[in-house]
Amino acid sequence: MTEFTLPKNSKVETGKTFAYAEGTTNKKTFQVYRFEPDSGENPRLDSYEINLDNFGPMVLDALIYIKNEIDSTLTFRRSCREGICGSCAMNIGGTNTLACTKAIDEFKHNIAIYPLPHMPVIKDLVPDLTHFYAQYAAIKPWMQTQSAPPPDTERLQSKAEREALDGLYECILCACCSTSCPSYWWNSDRYLGPATLLQAYRWIADSRDEYTGERLDDLEDPFRLYRCHTIMNCTNTCPKGLNPAKAIAEIKKLLVSRTV
Ligand code: SF4
Ligand code: SF4
Ligand code: FES
Repeated sequence: MTEFTLPKNSKVETGKTFAYAEGTTNKKTFQVYRFEPDSGENPRLDSYEINLDNFGPMVLDALIYIKNEIDSTLTFRRSCREGICGSCAMNIGGTNTLACTKAIDEFKHNIAIYPLPHMPVIKDLVPDLTHFYAQYAAIKPWMQTQSAPPPDTERLQSKAEREALDGLYECILCACCSTSCPSYWWNSDRYLGPATLLQAYRWIADSRDEYTGERLDDLEDPFRLYRCHTIMNCTNTCPKGLNPAKAIAEIKKLLVSRTV
């Protein structure tokens, strides 16, 4: 029987505990993944026992409090604090989601926080998204046209044509979906993953874009598109309520329909 073991330096060890102040009643423990590649040490899970009365209701509020008041070495990304920029995507309580829109009171007990799974970690909760963004750039995420634009107006759409982009344009490229997809875990070198494929479909579905055929040609590949096996993790985890699996299915349908 085959036996699999993790390399020694990838095992997550028990880290430090920052204990409650005496008399704290409204409290929770945040167990946070810590990793400093330059230290040569294994990753560890630090525990921050904190008083919930000291900050706002979201997980990001707790992380900001920890960084400002308890441990300034904790590193994470954030910007908008309202679910728009996608920076604060991380794995919270076993689910990929946005720390700024995840309420602490959804968790009865301790909250475990890790970086997005199966990505190289730069430090603590910060994954390296270089490859993810390169894949996004590869699908040419901008309008491509051959015809001259109308002389005195923009390229207009009917109401129905504009509505065809609903459920697509809202994607904030947080990478929660791609990093929840087992096919992407194992084949991200060649499989584009749900976020990039949803974005690819966003341009295929745009009535103003005139390169639909070329876009489909680029996707017609056993790895780039067809590594999706409809496992649906992507749709289940999207913090914006989008459906990348459906977008992928629409691309596959278009590919089939042009061959029959
Ligand atoms: S589809 Fe959803 S989970 Fe995926 S990148 Fe876009 S917003 Fe994030
Ligand atoms: S539906 Fe496709 S893209 Fe979504 S998680 Fe499953 S395999 Fe990945
Ligand atoms: S900080 Fe922008 S989405 Fe969370």
